[in-house]
Amino acid sequence: MTDTLSDSRTASRMFTEDVPVVVEDVRRRPPTEREAVLADPGFGRHFTDSMFVARYRHGEGWHDARLTTYGPLQMDPATAALHYAQSIFEGLKAYAQPDGSVATFRPEANAARFARGARRLAMPVVPEESFLTAVDALVDADRDWVPTGPDQTLYLRPYMLASEPFLGVRPAHEYLFMIIASPAGAYFPRGVHPVSVYLSEDYIRAAPGGTGDVKCAGNYAASLLAQEQAIEAGCDQVVWLDAVEKRYVEEMGGMNLFFVLGSGDDAELVTPALTGTLLPGITRDSLIEVARSMGHRVTERLFSVEEWRRGVADGTVTETFACGTAAVITPVGEVKARTGDFTVGDGTPGPLTMRLREALLDIQHGRVADPRGWLHRVG
Ligand SMILES: Cc1ncc(COP(=O)(O)O)c(C=O)c1O
Repeated sequence: MTDTLSDSRTASRMFTEDVPVVVEDVRRRPPTEREAVLADPGFGRHFTDSMFVARYRHGEGWHDARLTTYGPLQMDPATAALHYAQSIFEGLKAYAQPDGSVATFRPEANAARFARGARRLAMPVVPEESFLTAVDALVDADRDWVPTGPDQTLYLRPYMLASEPFLGVRPAHEYLFMIIASPAGAYFPRGVHPVSVYLSEDYIRAAPGGTGDVKCAGNYAASLLAQEQAIEAGCDQVVWLDAVEKRYVEEMGGMNLFFVLGSGDDAELVTPALTGTLLPGITRDSLIEVARSMGHRVTERLFSVEEWRRGVADGTVTETFACGTAAVITPVGEVKARTGDFTVGDGTPGPLTMRLREALLDIQHGRVADPRGWLHRVG
């Protein structure tokens, strides 16, 4: 296969059955520059040398899959995604393993969620196998960018956008599927601290029949003002309530929520049910399994602000935490609401919150066995 390509281009992977991944001769930054970035990567500020790009056209399907040098895209000003937000994305991480290999965490779950998002936004589906191939190809090409410091990771951002230059409200006929990668530092470099949250009563994130259960770009644009309002109220994060009754707790910013009832070995967990307006988080799903395997009862059901407030007051709700790929687990401390403020626990992270956090991080970083096969070795 490689004989048909120029010296600098080889294709060892197939994106789809008849579309090879062309590997271009990527312009690589010098090791000293890379090491300086990896010493303090922050989050979402630096990007690796390569990016993955594949194109789709109606009638032709997926074509022109390649790993190329990370850099700006040239776009027609009429590009549909810029006007109508026909655009979805994913977020997952690659972890340096103790044996020197690199692994991603449950990438098939991201592939499946991406496919669901594509269907909801009337976009072509990236076959799940192709999604995995593309993620592997990028991580493999830029494995030198996978940081090895404590709790450091390589954050991966697959996304798809309508690239057809056309001003009309209908599904586009052309798309770009891309993946970029960004080294990420430890989320809590100075220790884990609870965040304060603001219950959004003016704005909603998602309504029944809408797009709350998929990762489409518009959801996030529409969330920014509420997040600003939370910051103005002196809080770190916004907490979303259900759109209809504004009574049930749904999510915190871009993270799912868990409530701990009781304490010790008998502690139970409640997480808001996936009613169609919440994003089905992969961290949420993983923690449900991890907590159950530790012997804790986990229930997915509606959980009201009133139950939260009353539970904190009478001591039944002992801990609250949010979870997602970026921060893994973030404890929730102070809660501000027009109907009255309250504080969960004593302002320090709860014991079950921290146990679950360590348990999941240990699996992701390969420090313990992985009986569920959640780690996907890249190579
Ligand atoms: C709205 C929202 N909820 C929850 C999550 C957590 O999902 P995951 O655990 O798959 O990262 C995310 C992040 O992807 C999100 O954007």
